[in-house]
Amino acid sequence: MRLARSTITPTGRERVFGEDEIIVSKTDVTGKITYANHVFLRVSGYAEEDCIGAPHSMIRHPDMPRAIFKFAWDRLLGGHEIFAYVNNLACNGDNYWVLAHMTPSRGSDGSIIGFHSSRRVPDRDKIAKVLPLYDVLLAEERRQLDRPAGLAASAAKLDNALRDQSKTYDEWIWSL
Ligand SMILES: Cc1cc2nc3c(=O)[nH]c(=O)nc-3n(C[C@H](O)[C@H](O)[C@H](O)COP(=O)(O)O)c2cc1C
Repeated sequence: MRLARSTITPTGRERVFGEDEIIVSKTDVTGKITYANHVFLRVSGYAEEDCIGAPHSMIRHPDMPRAIFKFAWDRLLGGHEIFAYVNNLACNGDNYWVLAHMTPSRGSDGSIIGFHSSRRVPDRDKIAKVLPLYDVLLAEERRQLDRPAGLAASAAKLDNALRDQSKTYDEWIWSL
């Protein structure tokens, strides 16, 4: 059974996973899930058949700013890795925070054939430090009339916030 993401209401209950565990998924170049490990399935609560072929946005939490994912996609499509703190939505509406490391996967000719994400338990104090910026981005996305306008305005806010701190995104993440 495949649940539409919009039908899931966040419960406000947080799920945790082990410090020694890694949540892994792989996608094709369009972001459709091609692999999910047993930790991914257990923590998200989905069966493998629900995930494979589904867009990775199936676990997007409504409180996660889309600008962070746009930034991640731009990096990945440009052939670069990216780390991001991500709040995900489990199948029953519970949430779980991760520190994700996303990378492009390349074929024998060097072209990008998909993407890979490995996620660890994040430090709680780091989540507290990303939230002020995430809240600003999210508020901007919700303030605009439609999704493209919201995303553009939020992406500009992200750029400005980094510029104000004279940091690249990577410098910001590792300074938290
Ligand atoms: C390898 C990889 C892993 C991803 N992991 C997640 C994830 O754990 N949670 C999430 O919400 N989006 C993840 N995404 C991003 C989604 O593809 C999507 O951009 C995001 O959920 C925003 O959804 P939207 O398309 O509705 O704006 C991942 C993308 C890739 C390529």
